[in-house]
Amino acid sequence: MIDIQAIRQQFPILQQNENGHPLVYLDSAATAQKPVCVIDAITRYYREQNANVHRGVYGLSERATELYEGARETLRAFINAASTREIVFVRGATEAINLVAHSLGRLLQPGDEIIISEMEHHSNIVPWQMLRDEKGIVLKVLPMNDQGELMLEALDGLLTERTRLVSVVHMSNALGTINPVAEIVTKAHAAGAKVLLDGAQAVPHMPVDVQALGCDFYVLSGHKMYGPTGIGVLYAKEALLEQMPPWQGGGDMIYSVTFEQTEYNVLPYKFEAGTPHIAGAIGLAEAARWMMAVGREAIFDHESTLLAYATERLRTIEGLRIIGTASKKGGVISFIVEGAHPHDMATLMDQDGVAVRASHHCAMPVMQHFNLPATVRASLGVYNTQRDIDRLIASVQEAKEMLL
Ligand code: ALA
Repeated sequence: MIDIQAIRQQFPILQQNENGHPLVYLDSAATAQKPVCVIDAITRYYREQNANVHRGVYGLSERATELYEGARETLRAFINAASTREIVFVRGATEAINLVAHSLGRLLQPGDEIIISEMEHHSNIVPWQMLRDEKGIVLKVLPMNDQGELMLEALDGLLTERTRLVSVVHMSNALGTINPVAEIVTKAHAAGAKVLLDGAQAVPHMPVDVQALGCDFYVLSGHKMYGPTGIGVLYAKEALLEQMPPWQGGGDMIYSVTFEQTEYNVLPYKFEAGTPHIAGAIGLAEAARWMMAVGREAIFDHESTLLAYATERLRTIEGLRIIGTASKKGGVISFIVEGAHPHDMATLMDQDGVAVRASHHCAMPVMQHFNLPATVRASLGVYNTQRDIDRLIASVQEAKEMLL
């Protein structure tokens, strides 16, 4: 059992008011709030530990390097990668996917195929379209049904001997669907294709074990899992990273440079050109340790209870339709109220101190599937309570009455 009040105490921002009301933060899918241990780890680094990494022989730099490489080990353990050579620090999930598109993309031939799904975030669509336009690869889309579940049976018809990669989201940011990714990995591997899983929304809500999933790539963003912005992880199997060319050139990713040629550094540094986001990695590792201490099963159970409660209560509001009713969902609930624009709803709810996102959620094809411009989305963090859901319901009802 989680002591939610003790957890809430660790989040300074949750103690403040918005528009005269205690803040009800229901936009953790956009970015999660940060516990004080993460904030402290970042300020401690800048106040007491700041030096560049991998470069100095003096004590301060060696200690900064130890912290940075220690952070890599923490993230390795967090997702159970086999080796720290498989953990590349990047800006976030978006950059991680772009890295794979640029690097793996250079190894692809015209006519090679990549499969994505209809419920992808733009970050798992646009980089592949750019690659398609540049290299002549073929992009295919696995459809979803009206519950917001992937139509897995269609995957067999899409996979061919030219499929090089299946790149799908682990948990949808717009619908909350948790996809059957282990099954997707099995099918893709049987066809000889690699698999990338976009875990930006999954890692904040549930345990993730990349070896158990069997995926070839897994990407995550720090700021959605209670860590800082501007830092994330690309996990990739070591053998693949060895084959892949670097995507950015510069310091740290080299072993030696002459004007004639450059010898690249070993993994994972081959993919980390330039001074990295050292404070970000340290803060992210603190967030990962914090989540492991709270317990990721416990986080999932707590959020599932709240999700069930929110779903049941929202369903009692006349004219409200939940978008995304998959049988397996994480802590995200999207909805519309007939006749009320989502943006107007969210603006009015803000007056009650309730922060929700109203948008296409960077997943326009999902909106197109449901023929909607946008939804209101309430997304959960471990710090949310039943009282937050009661405030959400009251606020939705009030906004609806004002608008209709
Ligand atoms: N991708 C983030 C969201 O879902 C920003 O809100």
